Amino acid sequence: MKVTRALFDDVMAPNYNPAAMIPVRGEGSRVWDQEGIEYVDFAGGIAVNSLGHCHPAMVAALNEQGSKLWHLSNVFTNEPALRLAKKLTEMTFAERVYFANSGAEANEAALKLARRWALEHHGESKNQIIAFKQGFHGRTFFTVTVGGQPAYSDGFGPKPAAVDHAVYNDLDSLKALISDNTCAVMLEPLQGEGGIISPTNEFIQGVRELCNQHNALLIFDEVQSGVGRTGELYAYMGLGVTPDILTTAKALGGGFPIGAMLTTKDIAASLKVGTHGSTYGGNPLACAVAEAVLDVINSKEVLDGVKHKEQLFRDGLNAINAKYHVFSEIRGKGLLLGAALNDKYLGRSRDFLVAAVAEHLMCLVAGANVVRFAPSLIISDEDIKEGLARFERAVAKVVQG
Ligand SMILES: Cc1ncc(COP(=O)(O)O)c(C=O)c1O
Repeated sequence: MKVTRALFDDVMAPNYNPAAMIPVRGEGSRVWDQEGIEYVDFAGGIAVNSLGHCHPAMVAALNEQGSKLWHLSNVFTNEPALRLAKKLTEMTFAERVYFANSGAEANEAALKLARRWALEHHGESKNQIIAFKQGFHGRTFFTVTVGGQPAYSDGFGPKPAAVDHAVYNDLDSLKALISDNTCAVMLEPLQGEGGIISPTNEFIQGVRELCNQHNALLIFDEVQSGVGRTGELYAYMGLGVTPDILTTAKALGGGFPIGAMLTTKDIAASLKVGTHGSTYGGNPLACAVAEAVLDVINSKEVLDGVKHKEQLFRDGLNAINAKYHVFSEIRGKGLLLGAALNDKYLGRSRDFLVAAVAEHLMCLVAGANVVRFAPSLIISDEDIKEGLARFERAVAKVVQG
């Protein structure tokens, strides 16, 4: 059967609008399409391909587990899941782990746990969840409601109740909403989809203090910022603020679907037998791959490398901007970077993305005003240089109209 982009429109639900080319193979930070055209990958599958494509450690883990045991369900536990959970507890503040299959599911578990914990310890009235405008937490109905983008959550009928939104980096707006009826405050410690927005120190510390004052749980959604992306294993480690619950997915599996919710022993106690679950959560294949990914990423070499590569991106993007004057700022941390478009190009991030693909570069947008880069954490300096050269050509084309 000949597979073409046109087939997408014939057989797929129309909720995505993928590029015209169809990638068929990847190695490191290079990808080839059906015609054999080679692309530099600065998109990383939206911050997922943390070790690039087909990293030998991932391939080996998948092959080894693939010939041993694929699936059991949670009626039985398995060795890769327990090994991975043990490592996650050793590497973070957490003492307990719940495995899911995606970021949204990890967040769904976090929100349900927070509600259950509050009900058990403080009664029915402590049910308010506060999140932040422009936040993104996934597409299940609970998580999309907690996310602060009405364009994604409206139009599906009545929403889960008791969810409010404050303004990111504005403590007063949180103060105005929070009370002893707040069960949890949820945020991304670096907003991704919302435009690559870093929290200020004052804000993130203030949020922690307000949660303490009102006995509310602090949930960090590190689905995009986690697993080395910012140059720390988790972004909270660089902020000096520890959450009560942390969610992780994307880069954790390096391309194999997995998500996890991490928390303390005391809070996890509210997730009693039967309260929540997933057929696939903790699947041995996913956990074996994630263990291999984590082993590679949680090293000084890789994490320091992220900081070095961030600088190469910043220098390259600033040099492009000095020539073409298209960005107001380069922001973000580590290898989650955003080039914010200046007034002249507002609303046109997609034009840059389309121009980049035409120059054989894969990148991302974060809303209409930001071009986003979330490449492999071990992308070579050479690939960064080549990708930036292609991006410069794309920028030149947009500028020349
Ligand atoms: C911060 C954050 N949370 C949650 C999600 C949802 O993850 P998934 O698409 O795996 O459900 C995303 C996805 O972009 C995200 O960036």
